[in-house]
Amino acid sequence: MAISGRVSELMMQASWIRRMFEEGLRLKAKHGADNVFDFSLGNPIAEPPREFNEALVRLVTHPTPGMHRYMPNAGIPETRDRVSAMLSKHTGLTFGRDQIVMTCGAGGGLNVVLKTLLDAGDRVLIFSPYFVEYIFYVDTHGGVPVKVATTPTFDIDLDAFEKALNSWVKVVLINSPNNPTGVVYPEATLKKMGEIIQRKEKEFDKEIYLVSDEPYRRLVYDGVTVPWIFHAHPNSIVVTSFSKDLGLGGERIGFVAIGPDADPREKLFQGFTFANRVLGFINAPALMQHAIGECLESSVDMGEYRRKRELLCNPLREMGYEFAMPQGAFYLFPKSLVDDDVLFIRHLQQENILAVPGTGFGTPGYFRLSFSVEDRVIEHSIPHFQKVMKALRK
Ligand SMILES: Cc1ncc(COP(=O)(O)O)c(C=O)c1O
Repeated sequence: MAISGRVSELMMQASWIRRMFEEGLRLKAKHGADNVFDFSLGNPIAEPPREFNEALVRLVTHPTPGMHRYMPNAGIPETRDRVSAMLSKHTGLTFGRDQIVMTCGAGGGLNVVLKTLLDAGDRVLIFSPYFVEYIFYVDTHGGVPVKVATTPTFDIDLDAFEKALNSWVKVVLINSPNNPTGVVYPEATLKKMGEIIQRKEKEFDKEIYLVSDEPYRRLVYDGVTVPWIFHAHPNSIVVTSFSKDLGLGGERIGFVAIGPDADPREKLFQGFTFANRVLGFINAPALMQHAIGECLESSVDMGEYRRKRELLCNPLREMGYEFAMPQGAFYLFPKSLVDDDVLFIRHLQQENILAVPGTGFGTPGYFRLSFSVEDRVIEHSIPHFQKVMKALRK
């Protein structure tokens, strides 16, 4: 076999994603793309805000010498100053440029953090349902992902969390607003998690890092706000990107922020900077660092996602699909209408609807719909969801 046994194995674990993608292609070829309702991809559909395009135009019409060159591996100092000022303003804490590493999106940032923190065999707690890439990222850096169940409303189950938090654990990885559930962890949950982690740090005499993956922070609804983990636990690291809130998924730009009280803070910064370099990213794209530095308070038109959420959720709820209204991100995670969620996905496919089974997120019995799609996809799909409901609830 030409490729490694480990990669073959991991690819097998992810093979249902490929199978679904292929099924989508088959359906689109057969029925025409307009007659297939593809809710399977989390590709942010809202266009970047005007401020971003204006910043780009300014940059290319008034280029400064050296602006496309290599830079310190942590990123452009001025951009890191602006990011730290933005974080200081929003958290009420003090951040400086030496707490910020600019990265190739949140995905790049997570790999930088995990490479820096993990020794072989270190455990990383993740919470079901989880973003499936976590499994592969942790594996890449020699760690072992440990899946912890959540409550029936997908909040952190603090008892299960405390039980799972043994002396092997180095990283606790959370994602809020959550993909796939849309849940935002409340401040009280984070506070209690912080207390548990600090107790365990003392017991095991080691640092345990709370890492929050939060690229959907600004994609929230109904006045919900996302609490900062920095207030919950000193050894905190935020990983985020501009993929969703500025609609820049393809541009690969994000950052890692080290909590003001994280220990050893300087070493963490040096480690993340080194990992950014040796993972081959070298640095995050220069043009994007210049551009986002000028629109850190902007975001995509949230009205668009709000409208799509209502368009999908209201009719599905009326039909009898069961789910909690997402508080953030652009996903819906309803209960499957039959026990076997993979089988249920096939029922949806018969109506040309593409969705992802909960099994893919470590939580069978559910399915994920991304409402980051054109309005007409949602509108035209509704009678088909109704047909599936009628057929299975007979
Ligand atoms: C939970 C979560 N984390 C990380 C990422 C990766 O984001 P980025 O495009 O910024 O690498 C995604 C993208 O869908 C995501 O849903």
